[in-house]
Amino acid sequence: MKKKLIVGNWKMNYSPSQAEDFFINIEPRIDNSKFDVVVCPSNLSLDRISNILEDKRVMLGAQNVHFEENGAYTGETSASMLYSLKVKYCIVGHSERRGYFFESDESVNKKAKKLLEYDIMPIICVGETKEERESNTFEAKISKQLEIALKDISEDVARKNVVIAYEPIWAIGTGLSATLEQASKMCEFIKSEVKKIYNSDKLEDIKILYGGSVNSKNIIELINDDNIDGALVGGASITDEFIFLVNCLD
Ligand code: PGA
Repeated sequence: MKKKLIVGNWKMNYSPSQAEDFFINIEPRIDNSKFDVVVCPSNLSLDRISNILEDKRVMLGAQNVHFEENGAYTGETSASMLYSLKVKYCIVGHSERRGYFFESDESVNKKAKKLLEYDIMPIICVGETKEERESNTFEAKISKQLEIALKDISEDVARKNVVIAYEPIWAIGTGLSATLEQASKMCEFIKSEVKKIYNSDKLEDIKILYGGSVNSKNIIELINDDNIDGALVGGASITDEFIFLVNCLD
């Protein structure tokens, strides 16, 4: 079985010194033989965490990037800056960025391509609102998000270097996780859509994560599902609960 991936998205929490203290506290307790483990602190804390990532037990991720190489983009961070801090993964198109900062599918695609130029794996988030689920338009929405996000990314690169996260917006930060059946079905659907986009069965290997109120109560059933290749975790990644999540397999 391929190693699954657990990503902690710390969002806008912890100052650099708090982030360092938290990381130093959890890192020795992470058994990375079970999962690949990534933590995504705020950009301000990346440097500190990068300096104490000793033996690659845990990999570093970022929460966002700008798609231009450099220049007059006040407040933004480039892929080359992330690369210089040994960042290996970067979340793109999180629903909080799409919702609060008006990120479009097109900008998600540009960001993913820019990250790939720097060997940083984009974790492309897709997902529907409660209304879209209830009106049964969610599959069409996610197909469109995928099609645009993966535009001009080759099949081989997508297979090896892109991660997709299914994150139903109604499940994020609400404590209301998707059911195992919903999460599994959507991860399966996403994989089949990606295969369709590339018209290829080789995309079987692409990792599809589930995110949305993952916690110590639901992780085991989610992670044991064949369609779910890992988890993108918000709230439970900034407390000791994360230790349970990353060590949860026997
Ligand atoms: P949550 O966040 O685990 O707090 O629901 C998940 C995410 O935003 O990726």
